[in-house]
Amino acid sequence: MRPETVWPDSSFDCEGWRGEMASRIAGFDWSNTAMGPIDRWSKSLRAAVQLLLASPVPLVMLWGRPGTMIYNDAYAGFAAGRHPFLLGRPVEEGWPEIAAFNRNVVDTCLSGATLSYSDKRLTLHRNGQPEDVWMDLHYSPVAEDDGHPAGVLAVVVETTRKVLAEDKLLKLTQTLEERVAEAVSARVEAEERFRQVQKLEAIGNLTGGVAHDFNNVLQIISANLQLIELVTRDQPDLTRRLRVMSEAVTRGGKLAAQMLAFARRQPLNPAVVDAAKLFANICDFLQRALPESIKLKTSVSCGAWNLFVDRHQLENALLNLVINSRDAIHESGNILLEVENTTIGEENTSGLALPPGDYVKLVVTDDGAGMSDSVKARMFEPFYSTKAEGQGTGLGLSMVFGFVSQSAGCVDVQTQLGTGTSVALYFPRCTQTESMTADGARPRASSGGEVVLVVEDDAEVRLATIDMLAQLGYKVLSAQTAESALAVLQKHGNVDLLFSDVVMPGTLRASALAKIASAPPYNATVVFASGYTRDIIFHEGRLDEGVVLLKKPFTFDDLARTIRHALDARR
Ligand SMILES: Nc1ncnc2c1ncn2[C@@H]1O[C@H](COP(=O)(O)OP(=O)(O)OP(=O)(O)O)[C@@H](O)[C@H]1O
Ligand SMILES: [Mg+2]
Repeated sequence: MRPETVWPDSSFDCEGWRGEMASRIAGFDWSNTAMGPIDRWSKSLRAAVQLLLASPVPLVMLWGRPGTMIYNDAYAGFAAGRHPFLLGRPVEEGWPEIAAFNRNVVDTCLSGATLSYSDKRLTLHRNGQPEDVWMDLHYSPVAEDDGHPAGVLAVVVETTRKVLAEDKLLKLTQTLEERVAEAVSARVEAEERFRQVQKLEAIGNLTGGVAHDFNNVLQIISANLQLIELVTRDQPDLTRRLRVMSEAVTRGGKLAAQMLAFARRQPLNPAVVDAAKLFANICDFLQRALPESIKLKTSVSCGAWNLFVDRHQLENALLNLVINSRDAIHESGNILLEVENTTIGEENTSGLALPPGDYVKLVVTDDGAGMSDSVKARMFEPFYSTKAEGQGTGLGLSMVFGFVSQSAGCVDVQTQLGTGTSVALYFPRCTQTESMTADGARPRASSGGEVVLVVEDDAEVRLATIDMLAQLGYKVLSAQTAESALAVLQKHGNVDLLFSDVVMPGTLRASALAKIASAPPYNATVVFASGYTRDIIFHEGRLDEGVVLLKKPFTFDDLARTIRHALDARR
């Protein structure tokens, strides 16, 4: 049985007409509101309220100018803590926080117009706290029996959850876009690196092929030059020309060797190297290649691991890097040589093309001019140089790149225009100790302390030779010409070995110097260094018998062996 308080009094079985709001409306005293006592409601008002109660959509009617509120069960749910306070209340009192908004709604619709909002954001205090609420709102006038608009029917559909979800999705999409953009740019970088590697690989193959054939051609020229020399000994003019040609062949051979180094096809002689010791040994030598205005410092982290490389090539690579730094420093500046251990983990965040593992990192850093992006992109290309004609062949970094790659390492260059450059060479760690491999052990001067006088007019060759001999344990004196060498000989007297270039500027010939040095009171052993073949020098009669000749270019080991042998033979 239906309770008496239920409104409207209908025999039809509609859920809304039997719900909570139907009871509350029936039980409410409407006499002091704009709607007047319930039993005097017009047909239109009754019909509107009946429609409102029957609707499953949250509906509220604002009646008369005050906008007296009457609503259904669904709206009661929306009003939450404000329900049932709102029933029979003028709308501006019911929702004081949005009074102005509702005033406009009532005034607009009582004039016969409608209003619609989609996802309208309002701040409501439904449960005592301000909260942002989004709603779809549709307002339309409700007519009295006489046809005039007397109330406003409002459809209130809350969309807060949808709006917040969309917002979240949007943010997610944005961060997703950022993440995708990051991933794409990382990929582009990786592809660029890959292209660079491929380019160098292709140039390497080409260069290696050319160098190999070039070497064979040089070998033929050289062999034939020597044969011609045999038959033209008595024609000084021709001999001179042939010598120039031999020099050119030597230069070509050096070039081919550099190209082979870039192409990773040079024969390497790896040994266990203690980088810290190596630095200590070559530092003086490197400093000598620098003007006084450039300071060279070294920093070796303690406990630096060993590496397994061709020591001579490593020294050569470091020399190339230091020379590059020197050239990049205009007036004065600093070069720092560092050795440190580094480990590349499984996830390899370093960006280096190296498998995970332990590496020794040798770094040459300068505060010179730095490189532009375009120079950096081409720096490893053979014959790429920004230096003036004759100042650089553009093979320095190519050789370094080839040698390090061939040694299972990699080169990482960080550079900034105007700030400087840092070139890091990574080599795999070697767990053996330096003395464990016979190859790595350098032939040392057995007695030590023998005095060697180096005579060489080419400053770079002289410096390199002095350094190598010093490393071998000899006491080294040096001179630039035969005349100055004679002066040194006379002053020091106790020179054990004269190591001299064959052809030098000046009036005193090397052969004459050798004669003086090998005779009493000096009795020095003589070793000649020459880029020419042994035969010409013999046949030109410039060497005394028993004088040793070392062919240029010579390696550290060639030098060590020849000097030791010559000194031992004297005893
Ligand atoms: N430390 C550096 N600072 C600035 N630029 C550098 C540095 N190292 C190399 N470069 C740039 O890279 C180019 C290539 O270097 P690379 O050593 O291969 O050739 P090079 O020094 O010009 O000639 P070479 O070494 O054969 O005498 C250089 O010409 C220079 O422009
Ligand atoms: Mg260079």
